Amino acid sequence: MEEVIKIEGGHVLNGTIRISGAKNATVALIPASVLATKPVKLVGIPDISDVVSLKQCLEYLGVEVKCEKNDEIYIDPSHMSNKPLNIDAVSKLRASYYFMGALLGKYKHVEMKMPGGCNLGPRPIDLHLKGFESLGAKVDYIEDSYVITAERLKGNRIYLDISSVGATINIIMAAVYAEGRTVIENAAREPEIIDIITLLNKMGANIKGAGTSVITIDGVKELGGCFHEIIPDRIEAGTFMIVAAAMAGHMTLENIIPYHLDALMSKLKESGVYIDPKIDYVDIYSSKTLKPVDIKTAPYPGFATDLQAPLTALLTQAQGISHVTETIYPERFKHCEQLNLMGANTTLAVPTATIIGKTPLVGCDVRATDLRCGAGLVVAGLMAEGITTIQDIYHIDRGYENLDGKLKEVGAKIWREFID
Ligand code: EPU
Repeated sequence: MEEVIKIEGGHVLNGTIRISGAKNATVALIPASVLATKPVKLVGIPDISDVVSLKQCLEYLGVEVKCEKNDEIYIDPSHMSNKPLNIDAVSKLRASYYFMGALLGKYKHVEMKMPGGCNLGPRPIDLHLKGFESLGAKVDYIEDSYVITAERLKGNRIYLDISSVGATINIIMAAVYAEGRTVIENAAREPEIIDIITLLNKMGANIKGAGTSVITIDGVKELGGCFHEIIPDRIEAGTFMIVAAAMAGHMTLENIIPYHLDALMSKLKESGVYIDPKIDYVDIYSSKTLKPVDIKTAPYPGFATDLQAPLTALLTQAQGISHVTETIYPERFKHCEQLNLMGANTTLAVPTATIIGKTPLVGCDVRATDLRCGAGLVVAGLMAEGITTIQDIYHIDRGYENLDGKLKEVGAKIWREFID
């Protein structure tokens, strides 16, 4: 028996959706918490299965974990021990690799198996490992596990060939206890990185340059506990903006930092969607006639690769030809094949998809090949005639809190079923 999401398309959506805490911040904040010597409380934790996997990793390491309220987690690393992280939970998500930086930083030694995560084409971690080596660590790969050890970690100047989100965060975590100063050049500038640095500085770290491409970390001797509220999820918010652009009469998105979504909002406006951003909420009205647009994904503040699949689904209903170019993960186009099954006309010449619209979409059986492909198929299902059945929804549950429940509240006909 497999659980699927079913959507009866064509219903106009009206109402308010509250955005949850950012998945891609949370999945780094949880491992970062083990750098502390005292308890850390995180608020705004999204209810997603990636968090369940990270909690299993914490518990395996002997960290005390309590969740008094749904969106809160209390992490007490006072009595943890540094065991080889070789449990299944590690392979369930990409972000388990943040334990590399955190445990290396804290214990100067870490052993863990390969992280998992969405299949978006090649996803090397060479820049993370080079960063650890620059700080004085030795990296080995023995029997399917990374073994990373340092006699001492010493600050260094590290230039990232690509402004990688994961490498920036992992090197920061490895460097917080290192002797002296570490400077990361060409660092990633995503809002989630600012959130991690904010947490670490509250714990007592000395990190400057958050949100810029040069981050300076001066090593400290001890990190204490703290309280931290996670930023809203800009990708979840962007996904619902696209849903609203597709099907809303009038929708409001609450708990959102609109400027995190400037690139998407400007493209939606170009396409004819009416968006009215306020300080922490946004009103959106769909447009009867969508215009085609060209997008090119880029590191923040450029157009987020994680919103490429949902926007591609929307563009199938724009009148004319749109081009979507993927510069972060050139092979991240598996959703196009699924959208074509529903009646879309997309063709691929890597790294660009051409979408010829508008073609009617008709519900059928499709497969969420990865998290954001799943979100794109939900957008398509809401616009399609008839019933769309989405399989492999565990990808969606890894990264969206109660996606179907939130859509139901604004009038979508969406439900879960078990099928043979
Ligand atoms: N890269 C390397 N070597 C490295 C690291 C990255 O070549 O050592 C390349 C990647 O292959 C990619 C580019 O650099 O072509 C950027 O990758 P980055 O490291 O920035 O991505 P990530 O840290 O693995 C995070 C998010 C992704 C999001 C990307 C880009 C998390 C857990 N994941 O991945 O989110 O797409 O940044 O913004 O934060 C998602 O949420 O669906 C998702 C995949």
